[in-house]
Amino acid sequence: MDGFRVRSFSASRAYLTLGLIPFLSIAGVSARVVRQAMEMTSMTEKLVVSNLSGVPETMLWPLYGRAAEARRPDSRLHDPRAVIIADSIDYDFERSFGRPSSRHVIRAMAIDTLLRKWLRKHPGGQVVGLGEGLETQFHRVDQGRVRWLSVDVPESIDVRKRFLPDTDRHRNLACSALDLRWMDEVDPTGGLFITAAGLFMYLPPEQVPRLVAAIPEKFPTAELAFDTVPHWASRKTLAGLKLTPSYTVPPMPWGLDRNELGDLKRWHANIAAVQVAPFGRGRGFYYGGIVPVLHALPWLRNKMPMVVHLRCAPASM
Ligand SMILES: C[S@@+](CC[C@H](N)C(=O)[O-])C[C@H]1O[C@@H](n2cnc3c(N)ncnc32)[C@H](O)[C@@H]1O
Repeated sequence: MDGFRVRSFSASRAYLTLGLIPFLSIAGVSARVVRQAMEMTSMTEKLVVSNLSGVPETMLWPLYGRAAEARRPDSRLHDPRAVIIADSIDYDFERSFGRPSSRHVIRAMAIDTLLRKWLRKHPGGQVVGLGEGLETQFHRVDQGRVRWLSVDVPESIDVRKRFLPDTDRHRNLACSALDLRWMDEVDPTGGLFITAAGLFMYLPPEQVPRLVAAIPEKFPTAELAFDTVPHWASRKTLAGLKLTPSYTVPPMPWGLDRNELGDLKRWHANIAAVQVAPFGRGRGFYYGGIVPVLHALPWLRNKMPMVVHLRCAPASM
């Protein structure tokens, strides 16, 4: 099995449990029972993802944060699949990423909010998730009609497919976001929303404007949400940022400060609006207390990560 080892049994039991969630819920089975099923899954099988390294390995980091939030009794992120997937992977998350934080939870929730709002206007629309990793956003925002295309590099799609296989409205595509052939798989007739969470910062800087500009060029009414890191954070990763003694964050060569947002409109004439999507309040001293204050202070806000929301419209309209 190409680069994978499955410790005891196989990922099929996690898949089975994932598939059962909606039926259990419809059947009125209590959250406690679902949780027990999830715990059983975590006890009986682990997928060893030893082929993941570099940027593909980073997909385990936001998964870890979302799963930690989702398993809290006072969770703000309903995401039982993230819990099952995290519990089904043989990986020492805390050793690599430290204690879980709200860092990726507030990003996921900010994009969920944009998507839910957009889906109310485009119920049968197409969402494309570039660099989706093990993001379970489809299931969080699914209203029964959205069509979803998840685009990631082959080694990441191999892992994703174990837990989030293709269905009639959710498809996985092994293709680099930089290889624009993924666009041929998109049907924009009911509207198109493209997400790229935790992706652009890892790309060669000259490729980011090229990729962003290709979207309004091909899909002139699309919307796009992606997150950014500021230049100081990008520089830190280029110098070798150790998140924990056992994990060095891969280089993030592309950074953007908030005062550069105006430049984005110059990347393509069809980029009609550029906005920063608000983050909700996270947990703990930093994400619950400091970050909201930093975002409120003009100079410091300039140096903070953002979720950027682009709306496209044909320039001639
Ligand atoms: C930090 S993870 C983010 C995963 C997911 N968006 C989330 O928030 O959980 C980065 C993801 O980008 C993917 N990636 C890296 N380079 C890529 C490329 N050129 N095209 C598509 N995906 C890429 C990695 O495989 C990984 O899944």
